[in-house]
Amino acid sequence: MEFENIIYKVEDGIATIQLNRPKALNALNSEINRDIMAALQLLQQDASVRVLVMTGSEKAFAAGADVKEMANATPRYAKEFCGLAIDINNLLESLPVPVIAAVGGYAFGGGCEMTLACDFRVGGSRTTLSFPEVGLGIIPGANGCARATAIVGPAKAKQLVMLTEMIPGRQAYDLGLLNWYVESPALDELNAAARAAKKAYKEAQKAGSADVDTLKAAQKAAEAEAARAEYDAILDKAYAVARQLMAKPGCALASAKAAINKAANESVNAGKNQETIEFTLLFDTHDQKEGMAAMIEKRDAVFTNS
Ligand code: CAA
Repeated sequence: MEFENIIYKVEDGIATIQLNRPKALNALNSEINRDIMAALQLLQQDASVRVLVMTGSEKAFAAGADVKEMANATPRYAKEFCGLAIDINNLLESLPVPVIAAVGGYAFGGGCEMTLACDFRVGGSRTTLSFPEVGLGIIPGANGCARATAIVGPAKAKQLVMLTEMIPGRQAYDLGLLNWYVESPALDELNAAARAAKKAYKEAQKAGSADVDTLKAAQKAAEAEAARAEYDAILDKAYAVARQLMAKPGCALASAKAAINKAANESVNAGKNQETIEFTLLFDTHDQKEGMAAMIEKRDAVFTNS
């Protein structure tokens, strides 16, 4: 199905929702939120889907909720607008299939909140997470305070939200906000070339050189190439993780996600109870019988996700 503001596809059991509103750096307005929700509803009806990848572009996962739409909102409209974002994030969190966010560039405000509702996040050196809301006179409205607290703890969450700190990819990885940080000698080389091109352009600009336009174009091209390569590496990693997850029995993955979410969202005791329920129910599945038989018989298991 075609959408105006997102690209939705399912290939070999992996669904992808790619936010596609480039003119506003994928800012989340009502239309894009409605498209995301419609795609998630399609995905829920598609039994072939085993993993979901959420992504944007090399420039931005999403630069936040659409400030232009919100600027003159009444409290009532703000509640409605945020209600849809909250529903999307809760659905991402509660889907039985794992959800991976491939985060290139900015994930600000509502975009950051959306990535935190996913089960896993992959980023790189251009990934930047941030909660700028306090600087706009509001706070994160789609459960970002709560989800950040669950991931980094209350003291760090307060630092990020109240000081509106920018969190570059490496730091986000160190904090546990990213599960994977892509790096490689090939990316290092492209980044070094982009830095060198920028330096050459700045020096030519300072010296008033005649080459300045050519060097500016070269700098833009080098940066675009490095950013594109990094984003491709982020996507490659996200799909590699997706394939790893697809090799595992889907019922066990759904149960693990439900038990961990219960512990994170309610309490350790509620999580323990959910874990016992999920553990017990899995003994009614084909994949439990197959997984254990395969282990005993020293062969590879053939899972059917049933
Ligand atoms: N809402 C609406 N439009 C946005 C936007 C947003 N959140 N973020 C970027 N855009 C638009 C810009 O207005 C601009 O459009 P025009 O060309 O028509 O002016 C276009 O996207 C490109 O943006 P920039 O020219 O600013 O690009 P940049 O590369 O110079 O800067 C940026 C990128 C640092 C992300 C900057 O755009 C920025 O700071 N954006 C705002 C981020 C923000 O405050 N997000 C939080 C929103 S509040 C929220 O999310 C609340 C919630 O939880 C519900």
